Amino acid sequence: MELPVIDLAPYLSIDGGDDGSMVGSELGGGLSELCREVSQILKETGALLVKDPRCTVEDNDRFIDMMEKYFESPSEFKRLQERPNLHYQVGVTPEGVEVPRSLVDDEMQAKLNAMPKESQPSLPKGPDCKWRYMWRAGPRPSKTRFQELNSEPVIPEGFPEWKETMDSWGYKMISAVEVVAEMAAIGFGLPKDAFTSLMKQGPHLLAPTGSDLSRYGQEGIVFAGYHYDLNFLTIHGRSRFPGLNIWLSNGQKVEVKVPVGCLLIQAGKQIEWLTAGECQAGMHEVIVTNRTTEAIKLASAQNRSLWRVSSTLFAHIASDATLKPLGHFAESPLAGKYPSMCAGEFVEQELAVINLKGNKEEP
Ligand SMILES: [Fe+2]
Repeated sequence: MELPVIDLAPYLSIDGGDDGSMVGSELGGGLSELCREVSQILKETGALLVKDPRCTVEDNDRFIDMMEKYFESPSEFKRLQERPNLHYQVGVTPEGVEVPRSLVDDEMQAKLNAMPKESQPSLPKGPDCKWRYMWRAGPRPSKTRFQELNSEPVIPEGFPEWKETMDSWGYKMISAVEVVAEMAAIGFGLPKDAFTSLMKQGPHLLAPTGSDLSRYGQEGIVFAGYHYDLNFLTIHGRSRFPGLNIWLSNGQKVEVKVPVGCLLIQAGKQIEWLTAGECQAGMHEVIVTNRTTEAIKLASAQNRSLWRVSSTLFAHIASDATLKPLGHFAESPLAGKYPSMCAGEFVEQELAVINLKGNKEEP
């Protein structure tokens, strides 16, 4: 199954001069249909492929090139950017630290075992074998009940372009997510700014991962065990090595192919909360498949890096904003499953399950 690609250009070309309360019926030129398509695809697949004219193949390449160079550096060098005392909220997280939820969540394990064989995920046997780098993206509130640990951003030595490259990719990813969030809100029958107004000053994180395919390139190896993301929406540029599997809302497992120049968005737990389960968090895993091994062969032949970099940004609802079913979703029979709470409190609760309390990140 190929996921359709939504071009954001027609939506971006409309005048943004309204006050944010615009609803779908006020959009012309087939745009309300496009918004409905965005919400429908997110609901059915938990994912969405988009093309954003503001984010080019060159932008993605520049970011991935720098991260490949970083992850290729010796472990001793990378560990200089490790901040375990700050719960890895900034800087590097070495491989073997992040724990996939499917390893520690009994309820999830029972669900997995009940799945038909052909759609079962690969069961991880231990922590994920991937490195990650955490970089805060976007502004933070000056006053909040959920203060992130007061830590300076970590910049590795020998990378003069680091800050600019990280900030520019982070900014572009947040901009793309905001447009998708507006379109999805309209598609779900909510005011255009229903989601974006809650995202302002959210604890968004640019969190690229690096997986060493020269060591872990055998088919079946798990880079990120089956899980959902606890944030609102996750966005990534195209990776140079395939390997992402997603589960549709009907339970079917699908290997995602991201076309060149496209971005991939995934629904997280916070959008599920805001829509009372209408748009469920998308389950996914990253493993070495036969398509990954093909890409490894090609990259070796062309003398390219064998580090698989994901250019991931986790977009969050602001910590002090309230998570609860919005608008007509409050009337949903499932609304009771999604009680009202601060987004920051929700994140702490989720992290407690996977023993990462204090770390604003998911496996
Ligand atoms: Fe994820």
